[in-house]
Amino acid sequence: MGNWKMNKLISEANEFTSTIGPTIKKATEHNIDIGVAPTYLCLDEVVRSAPKDMLVAAQNCHYEPHGAFTGEISIEMLEELGVNWCIIGHSERRTYFNETDQACNLKIKALIAHHMVPLYCVGETLEQFESGITKEVVRRQVVDGLKDLTASEVKNLVIAYEPVWSIGTGKNASTEIAQDVCCYIRGILHELFGDASEEIRVLYGGSVKPENIRDYLTLPDVDGALVGGASLKIDSYQALLDNII
Ligand code: 13P
Repeated sequence: MGNWKMNKLISEANEFTSTIGPTIKKATEHNIDIGVAPTYLCLDEVVRSAPKDMLVAAQNCHYEPHGAFTGEISIEMLEELGVNWCIIGHSERRTYFNETDQACNLKIKALIAHHMVPLYCVGETLEQFESGITKEVVRRQVVDGLKDLTASEVKNLVIAYEPVWSIGTGKNASTEIAQDVCCYIRGILHELFGDASEEIRVLYGGSVKPENIRDYLTLPDVDGALVGGASLKIDSYQALLDNII
C-alpha cells in the first residue's frame, strides 16, 4: 500500500492512475493486493480513474457518523465514494494530531462495523527504541487499539509495523528487527483472537524502497509493505512490484 500522505494535486493523482493499469494487472495476476492512500481531495478522482482491482485507502476518518466535527470526514462519506480501506493511527497522526490508541480503537471499531478494512499502524519512536521498550510500546498500541474486538470481527484487519525512526529517514529497520517485531505482533494477535488472527495481515513500513522491499517481503512474518516516499513516482511504484515478483 502506497501512502501518499499530503502529496499530489488531483491532476498529479490522475496522471498516476492513468498509467498504472499494467502494474495493477501484473499484481492481480500474481495474487498481490496493491493500492494507494491519496489525500481526501484526491479520493474521488482516484477511485474513478484507477483500475478496478486497485485498492484505494483513506488516510484517516472520524468514528462518528456525522455531526459538529469541523474538518473531519465520516466513514459513510468514504463509503459513498467507493473507498473501503482506511489507514488508522499513522505515527504522523499520533505525533502531530495527538491521535491516541483510544481514538484509534473507536475508528477501527466503526470501520469494521461498516465492513471496511482498517490498516492500523503501530511502532515505537527513536527514544523508545533506544530505551529498549519497542515491544512494550507495540503491545500497548495493539492491545488498546484493538480493545473489545472479537475474533469474528478481525478477518479484514491489517496491521502495519512502522518504527517511527525509520519513516522518511532512509534508516530502515534491519530485517531482523522487522521480523522480530512482526512475529511478536502476531503472537499478541493470537493471544487476543486465537486462530482468527491468522487472517490478519502484518505489513512492515519505514523507508521501504524498490531496492529493499524483497528483503522484507520474504520474511516469514511480513505479508506486505506500507510505503511512503517510494510510492509517489510511478517508476518507483512499478519497481516496488517488479522487485517482488
Ligand atoms: P517512507 O516509506 O517514506 O519512509 O514512509 C513510510 C510511511 O510512513 C508509510 O506510511
